[in-house]
Amino acid sequence: MTRVPAIPFIPTASIAKKAVMAITALLVIGFLLVHFLGNLFLFVGPQAYNAYAHKLTSSPLIYPAEAFLLLIFGYHIITGIQVWHDNIRAKKHKYAVQKRLGKGTFMSKTMIISGLIILAFLIFHLATFKYGSYIPSAENPEIRDIYSLVVQKFTIWWYVLFYVTAVCCMGMHLAHGFQSAFRTLGLSNEGTLAVMQWISYGVAVFFAVGYSVFPVYFFLFGS
Ligand code: HEM
Repeated sequence: MTRVPAIPFIPTASIAKKAVMAITALLVIGFLLVHFLGNLFLFVGPQAYNAYAHKLTSSPLIYPAEAFLLLIFGYHIITGIQVWHDNIRAKKHKYAVQKRLGKGTFMSKTMIISGLIILAFLIFHLATFKYGSYIPSAENPEIRDIYSLVVQKFTIWWYVLFYVTAVCCMGMHLAHGFQSAFRTLGLSNEGTLAVMQWISYGVAVFFAVGYSVFPVYFFLFGS
């Protein structure tokens, strides 16, 4: 059997990989909640959103915060690909695990696909906003008019379509991933499985609909 060479600081034991995936998943969900709440300033108006974004990006804490984000997203993606690869290998060797995998839902079987779509979205998203054009604000050119950039992009139909598709994929990823993370960490059991599944669906719908509201609202109603 061909073995994938170990990557430094990435665990090789299957259970450890799953634990890293689960912990980083919950941290990413924490980021998603904070990012969503911050984006609500878009509905307060340009000054509020620009002031919020400026405060965030000019804080000295931004560098450690971004390094932490890179670490949790990076670990989640690498261990996710490794676990998917391990499952393929196990399937090829016709282990009993194949039977168990066969029982999965559509969402659990397509985690790698929804995950890769989210990764493509994230690269596009950062290129568009974080590293995108610098529009100086009218009141103070030192402050970036990120509000205008967001609103400008959300008037383009294919941006809106791509954003809504990507955040729906994110919802599908969360619908399985959220309850799976709790199970891996031993925070849910057979008794609480059904409840956790429903909470997972709730979290998935909340983020898919919540994040879709921004592009759809600005596309329909402008600034
Ligand atoms: C659909 C609504 C969304 C809007 C309006 C939005 C807006 C933004 C903006 C304007 C920035 C740049 C902030 C700045 O540098 O001043 C940003 C950064 C970022 N966004 Fe989003 N975002 C959305 C959805 C998402 C989603 C769904 C994810 C995750 C999958 C995400 C992940 C990130 C990350 C990781 C950063 C970089 C944070 C940093 O390095 O400081 N965003 N977003």
